[in-house]
Amino acid sequence: MSIKETSDVDSTPLEEIDVSRPELFQNDSWQPWFARLRKEAPVHYLADSVNGPFWSVSSHQLIKEVDTNNKVFSSEKGGIAIVDPYVVEENQIQGQSFITLDEPKHMKQRMAVAPSVAPKNLAELEPLIRERAIDILENLPVGETFNWVQEVSIELTARMLATLFGFPYEERRQLVYWSDLATAVPEVTGDDSIDMNKRYEELMGAAAAFYQLWVARAQEPPSFDLISMLIHNEETSRMNEDPELFLGNILLLIVGGNDTTRNSISGGVIGLNKYPDEYQKLRDNPGLIPNMVSEMVRWQTPVIHMRRTALEDIELGGQQIKAGDKVVMWYVSGNRDEAVFPDADKLIIDRPNARAHVAFGFGVHRCMGNRLAEMQLRILWEEIVKRFHTVEVVGDVERLPNNFIRGIKDVPVRLHPI
Ligand code: HEM
Repeated sequence: MSIKETSDVDSTPLEEIDVSRPELFQNDSWQPWFARLRKEAPVHYLADSVNGPFWSVSSHQLIKEVDTNNKVFSSEKGGIAIVDPYVVEENQIQGQSFITLDEPKHMKQRMAVAPSVAPKNLAELEPLIRERAIDILENLPVGETFNWVQEVSIELTARMLATLFGFPYEERRQLVYWSDLATAVPEVTGDDSIDMNKRYEELMGAAAAFYQLWVARAQEPPSFDLISMLIHNEETSRMNEDPELFLGNILLLIVGGNDTTRNSISGGVIGLNKYPDEYQKLRDNPGLIPNMVSEMVRWQTPVIHMRRTALEDIELGGQQIKAGDKVVMWYVSGNRDEAVFPDADKLIIDRPNARAHVAFGFGVHRCMGNRLAEMQLRILWEEIVKRFHTVEVVGDVERLPNNFIRGIKDVPVRLHPI
């Protein structure tokens, strides 16, 4: 894989630009590459890459066009990531979930799981999530430098996931481990050292733990947690008999709710430190928090891309896409589109149209957990501003080489209580 630094943006021939290189996200140097694509070729073809040939769709408008045209742009045909679905060996379970299904199968399954994150259920969860957030914040090491990602972002999402699944609370970090593992594919992370057989074994361990949970929960009266909801819904009550479906859906919910929210929490702290005027706006008016949450999700864009496969020939943005072509919607780029978001690289917590972001996708696959994520972020920031004048970033931020999840590994911070 060739390494191109940001300084090469203008000198690289358009047809050679490869925005899928994981190091662009590790170095946080992706912005000018996408700015060039949006300007010169919002539907751009790369003939050769480690992920084969693919189209990049980079403008806000065209991303929405692809995402809403699910008849032509399939999630089922080739999966949802730029890397093709990975099969370890024949007879090994790969995990199938509704995010990789087309209609009508997709909606049937989605409808079965969706009530677990509907507003009524979220209202039930809110007090518990707030209590768990407060507990984290009250126990942070004031006066010391610590990694915000480990102590807050990961811990809070692990607690939320354990709550959502009714998973044993003491073992909640297992959920984080499995989620990290599920997205650890060399073509995504650029890390060839991953032992894919070991990864497979560990994921089977996840499946086994959830089978156990399923059996136990099946003997209890219906409750608000996800596993119980799956058991008591006609569409999904026998999901445990289909290993593909079982592992796939469990992983979808763990990954969906884990990395994304975690990185929004970390990204928010980075953004407020980068733009101290915005931090001051927040202190002056905590009523801005709901809008700020949308803006943080836009600014961070935790899911970098989603991929589709064209089922038929179609024209898009003046380009001719052929049946079978891989089409990648770069949400990070859509959310930096100046035509929609003036001064798009800046976090502006009272940005009037922050909610117009595409970080949750669009159309039938639009993020099922978006309200849960927003609720979590809102609660966290409400409780942070009550306690701390500043969560100060005091060192270098470390990011992950991943072109699917915009991952943040280390944010060294110091707290300044009110
Ligand atoms: C800030 C946090 C989050 C972001 C940015 C995010 C982003 C996304 C994106 C981009 C998609 C695909 C949309 C598309 O293809 O059009 C998606 C789908 C999904 N997300 Fe999220 N997500 C977040 C949090 C969550 C949470 C907390 C859950 C919890 C359960 C969740 C569960 C799902 C599920 C189940 C799907 C599949 C929906 C479908 O295929 O119908 N997400 N998410």
